[in-house]
Amino acid sequence: MEKIIIFDTTLRDGEQAPGASLNEGEKVEIAKALAAMGVDIIEAGFPVSSPGDFSAVCAVARSVKGPVICGLARAIKKDIEAAAQALAKARRRRIHVFLATSKIHMKYKLKKAEDEIMKLAVESVRYARKFSCDVEFSPEDASRSEREFLFKVVEAVIGAGATTVNIPDTVGYSEPEEFGNLISQIRENVPNIGRAVISVHCHNDLGLGAANSLEAVKNGARQVECTVNGIGERAGNASMEEIVMTIATRKDIFKGLTTNIKKEQIYKTSRLVSKLTGFVIAPNKAIVGANAFRHESGIHQDGILKERSTYEIIKPQDVGFRGLGLVLGKHSGRHAFAERLKNLGFHLSGPQLEKAFSRFKMLADKKKDIFDDDLMAIVEDEIKSAKPLWQLESFEVNSGNRISPVASVRLKKKNRLFVGSSTGDGPVDACFKAMEKITAIKGELLDYRLEAVTKGKDAIGEVNLRVRFKNRVVAARGSSTDVIEASVSAYLNALNKYALR
Ligand code: KIV
Ligand code: ZN
Repeated sequence: MEKIIIFDTTLRDGEQAPGASLNEGEKVEIAKALAAMGVDIIEAGFPVSSPGDFSAVCAVARSVKGPVICGLARAIKKDIEAAAQALAKARRRRIHVFLATSKIHMKYKLKKAEDEIMKLAVESVRYARKFSCDVEFSPEDASRSEREFLFKVVEAVIGAGATTVNIPDTVGYSEPEEFGNLISQIRENVPNIGRAVISVHCHNDLGLGAANSLEAVKNGARQVECTVNGIGERAGNASMEEIVMTIATRKDIFKGLTTNIKKEQIYKTSRLVSKLTGFVIAPNKAIVGANAFRHESGIHQDGILKERSTYEIIKPQDVGFRGLGLVLGKHSGRHAFAERLKNLGFHLSGPQLEKAFSRFKMLADKKKDIFDDDLMAIVEDEIKSAKPLWQLESFEVNSGNRISPVASVRLKKKNRLFVGSSTGDGPVDACFKAMEKITAIKGELLDYRLEAVTKGKDAIGEVNLRVRFKNRVVAARGSSTDVIEASVSAYLNALNKYALR
């Protein structure tokens, strides 16, 4: 079997998605999940772009074992030096240099002629090779570049020591057949192409990111750059789960090709990225959407009951999606609870397990049927990387259709109790305002979504929200059978993230 290298750029291009912002601890948490899932290369960030990015790439390089850790750099010495420095502690490192080669970018953005671009590309790759034997070069906007010039640049950077050449469809303009042809033309027209891996990096502006990447694979690309849930600049990047599952599901077409990805980790990792970025997954999103394995119409349900393959091309459990499978109830013990979590891919420390178990017991008192998704919601809350600064002690709300809602909230900080109350536009708003009074941290709610995690009137409600505190946007999630409690917990998580930044 020949391997398709999975290069994950969730922490770099994914984090460039408008509104996504991850702190260092969250980046490390995602990087560890990517490593556990079997990703080959993690692009951890763009070190020169900010001190925060630099430090996050250092943290990932220091603490994540397994995959190659990569840092992005423009074709500028100080960028390459910053990337090399940030990656110094990585067991295996890659420097990724990019420079645009399309007429439109060279003329308007870089204001440079072809010969200057060629010189810069070669010099920057040579310079990067001084720090790492693994260097990737991306001719940015390759799909809109003049073919002859692109071939010459690719040949020259391989000559200068690039071990991977990445062909980006930077603005998601390509169409699959055209993009596949580009890859095959590169193979035909670049004499030394056999000395480098051909990679592709497709954006999703026309919804073709995954299709273009897969067509490129058919034409000889052996590395695919992608992100979990397809997040990224504008309409996002090619989605990792779609690429991996297409290669795995259509073995008849992708003959002899495979990836290292442990597919049963896909759903869990997708949820983690969604939780930490605050980007809710559309219910109809392929592979990881809540409806991806739901069958609504009578004819389909009948078919599924008779033979699942009538309407199901992937077994939900193959990607770690367990549907509503009833698992535990009020009388389940600690052992069954821990076993079930292990099966779902969670390995909790002793104290985390204790806390999660006591939350499970509280939930079991309120809710008769407990499903896997309920458990995941509880556990994800308990394995937050940082210890919260502010903890919820209790809250009370007085609300109705003829009165102004009033909330009183009690929070604890380092064993001291603080109480605050406020009115608001609704009970949730009143609670948020009361918490703002206590913490003296003012936030602007940008986005608030409430979803039922499972079925029934007693289903767990999950609140995802994004809050702007001064000039920082923070995403957070909270869950409970009570929607006000879920909202309070989500807002408190956001406040804590900001306070502990
Ligand atoms: O879209 C793009 O061209 C990029 C490059 C930096 C690879 O993200
Ligand atoms: Zn990109």
